[in-house]
Amino acid sequence: MALWGGRFTEGPDQRFKDFNDSLRFDYRMAVEDIEGSIAWADAICSAGVLTAEECAQLKQALSELEAEVRANLQAVATAGDEDIHSYVERRLIEKVGSLGKKLHTGRSRNDQVALDLKLWCRKACTELLKAITALERELTKCAAQHAEDIFPGYTHLQRAQPVTFGHFLMAYAQMFERDYNRLSNTQELLNQTCPLGSAALAGTAYQIDRDALARALGFKEATHNSLDAVSDRDHVMEMLACASISMVHLSRLAEDLIIYNSGEAHFIELSDKVTSGSSLMPQKKNPDALELIRGKCGRVVGALNGMLVTMKALPMAYDKDLQEDKERLFDAVDTWHDCLTMAALVIEGMHLNRHTAFDAAKGGYSNATELADYLVARGVPFREAHGVVGQVVLYAIEKNKALEDLTVDEFEQFNKSIGGDVYDALELHNLIKKRSVKGGTDPEMVRAEIASLNAKLETRD
Ligand code: ARG
Repeated sequence: MALWGGRFTEGPDQRFKDFNDSLRFDYRMAVEDIEGSIAWADAICSAGVLTAEECAQLKQALSELEAEVRANLQAVATAGDEDIHSYVERRLIEKVGSLGKKLHTGRSRNDQVALDLKLWCRKACTELLKAITALERELTKCAAQHAEDIFPGYTHLQRAQPVTFGHFLMAYAQMFERDYNRLSNTQELLNQTCPLGSAALAGTAYQIDRDALARALGFKEATHNSLDAVSDRDHVMEMLACASISMVHLSRLAEDLIIYNSGEAHFIELSDKVTSGSSLMPQKKNPDALELIRGKCGRVVGALNGMLVTMKALPMAYDKDLQEDKERLFDAVDTWHDCLTMAALVIEGMHLNRHTAFDAAKGGYSNATELADYLVARGVPFREAHGVVGQVVLYAIEKNKALEDLTVDEFEQFNKSIGGDVYDALELHNLIKKRSVKGGTDPEMVRAEIASLNAKLETRD
């Protein structure tokens, strides 16, 4: 049954119907559509459109329908109706007869879909926030285990200065914490205003208390402009932006771990649970989970881009273009959620090859800055010290020695103030401990950051 057709003399071409129908994807808003309908029944009842008894009957039938669709949401997708709103209305009429035909009084699918999608986004945010939290918990747990383990720190993919593996992991925990806050803000903003009661574009003609209706649906108040309300999809763009930024973070984590897991680096070992073999080369263990996370970033960023272009220059108010918001949002949300879960699984089973990582951190003259600081402490201006250490490094490379393998005599050729205490300064554990500013790699500071993030994570479910 279509919701329209009175002014039509011909039915739709099947090819147009297939093109136009959205039930195959908007079935996912079935529960939200029913929740909105229950609230709408109350609203029009208070405006005198329904008697109390009719309202109770409609709400009862809608609740039954809600239980049915919850039990088998997938079945809704193939029911053949134009969209989820048509589906719910048809099923309601099947249950209560012509009384069901009263529910759409004063409402349009335009404000209905705007509401449904906001309700869907609200729930999706809650689920995503949980998944981000779960990943952050894995990261802080792993970081606590490796707060002391020395690891090569890179800039330009060149070994730069040693850090701890815990410090490295906490860098990602900070990114995901920002993702959490960003998405919380998005959720808070979308919960401000409720579009229901805007009708098709001009506002409903029935005297309902829209603010009360908004509060009943968990919003702060009703939207302030009906034209805007039916065509606003800022929350979709925002969620996709949140997803894209977080996927960029996930792709960086994936790339780092892929490099560290490579045969060349071998700093970490990924669990068998998140890797797969090659059909040809028996020795291979491929980091598929991480590669997929890295690859799926493109898909989510594509969804954001697509949504922005759909919204660009959209004439006021509702246009069918807006139906294009859902598939990409649903796909991006599913993808982001899967990637968060998968990243947590990777971290959970990851093993650090402590000695390999330590040896790599020791190589590459990554304690050269330390030697410069040592000279600074002896009165050599930093810029001069930098030049001296450059010469020492060149000399050490020629001799194929690490800095700490040079003798005091060799050091003295470059600067007289270098003495026997230089070896302590060059020692990686000492070097790490010196980075004891807030946010630095000193294990004490890393532990403090782990504790402070854990305190926040503990308040979440
Ligand atoms: N399926 C539509 C969508 O997703 C529902 C709203 C339809 N409104 C209309 N006036 N045709 O946007």
